[in-house]
Amino acid sequence: MSNSRVLITGATGLLGQKVVEVFRRESEFELFPCDLSDGAEGYFSLDITDKQKVIESVKKLAPSVIINAAAFTDVDRAEIERELAYKVNASAVDYLAEAAALFGSKLVHISTDYVFNGQKGNYDEHSTPDPISYYGKSKLAGENLLRARLRDFAILRTQVLYGYGKGVKRNFVLWVVEKLSRRERFFVVTDQIGNPTLADELAVAVLKVVQRDARGLYNVSGFQTLSRFEFAEQVAEVFGFEPSMMSPSTTDRLGQKARRPMNSSFICLKAQTELGLTMPTVKDSLYFMRQQMKLAGAFDPASKILL
Ligand SMILES: NC(=O)c1ccc[n+]([C@@H]2O[C@H](COP(=O)([O-])OP(=O)(O)OC[C@H]3O[C@@H](n4cnc5c(N)ncnc54)[C@H](OP(=O)(O)O)[C@@H]3O)[C@@H](O)[C@H]2O)c1
Repeated sequence: MSNSRVLITGATGLLGQKVVEVFRRESEFELFPCDLSDGAEGYFSLDITDKQKVIESVKKLAPSVIINAAAFTDVDRAEIERELAYKVNASAVDYLAEAAALFGSKLVHISTDYVFNGQKGNYDEHSTPDPISYYGKSKLAGENLLRARLRDFAILRTQVLYGYGKGVKRNFVLWVVEKLSRRERFFVVTDQIGNPTLADELAVAVLKVVQRDARGLYNVSGFQTLSRFEFAEQVAEVFGFEPSMMSPSTTDRLGQKARRPMNSSFICLKAQTELGLTMPTVKDSLYFMRQQMKLAGAFDPASKILL
C-alpha cells in the first residue's frame, strides 16, 4: 500500500505508542494519531464511544487504514464498570467499522486471548471462543460486531502484552521490576500460562498486516509459552535481580474480581506463514525492553533502580 493515510486510535496507550513509532519509520504513511486526551503535538482527541465524532473524523481524514489500539483494558474494573467496558470494547468497534465501511477504510483491530476459557490452551484461529470474564465477553462482542459490518478488516488477537513507553499503565514486567527494585516480597502465580508479547513486536505485526493488506483473524503473540512465575523469573534475570523475594502462588489466592483463563497459549502458525511473523525469545525481548528503559533514563542497570 503506498501513501496510506493511517488513523490510529488509543495512540498514547502501550500498543498505540509502538504502532506510531513503527509506522513513523516507514515513509509511505501519513499518520493521524488520536486518543481520549490529545496529548502530544500532532495528536488529536477522539473518544471512540462518540459515534458522531468517529464518523466525522473518518469522513474528514479519509484514512485508507484505521488501527484501533484503543480499549478498556482493566480486566477487573470491567466486571464493575460493565457499561463503559461494553461501550469501548464493543459499541465503539461497531462505530469504527461502520465508518470504515462508509468511507472505504480498512480496519485493523486488536483483540485478546481472554475470548477463550483457558481450559485447554494452544488456541488457533479456528478455536471456539468462550470468554469467562466481562472484559473477554466485551472484546468478543467487538470482534463479532466488526465482522458483521465490514469485509476489509484484520483482527489480531494477542496476550500478556508488555513493554515500556511514556506514561503507560503498569504491565506485568513493569510491576515485577518495580517490586524487585523495592526489595518487596511478592507472589506470582504458577497456574496462569500464556505467551508473553512485547508490544514493539505486536506493532511490527500490525505493520505487516497493513503492508500486505492481509485480512481476517490472526493470533499474534510471542512464541514461547510460560507460566507467569517462569516469566517473572526471566524478568528478574534480565534486569539483574535476585528472585528470592518472589514466591510462587496460585490464582485462587489472589481474590481477583475477574476470572482468568488458566492456559490461553496460542498457536501463531497462520501469522508465521501468511505474514512472515517472527518473534525473538522472551529473554531477548526483555533485554530489548531493558535497553529502552536505560536509554529513556527509566532504569539504571548499575544501581538496579527503577527511576
Ligand atoms: N495489555 C494486555 O495484556 C493485553 C492482552 C491482550 C490484548 N490486549 C489488547 O491490546 C490492545 C492494546 O492494549 P494496551 O495494553 O496497549 O492498552 P492501554 O495501554 O490500556 O491503551 C489503551 C488506550 O485506549 C485509550 N482509550 C480508552 N478508552 C477510550 C475511548 N473511549 N476512546 C479513545 N481511546 C480510549 C486509553 O486511554 P486512557 O489511558 O486515557 O484510558 C489508552 O490510551 C487492546 O485492544 C487490548 O484489549 C491487551
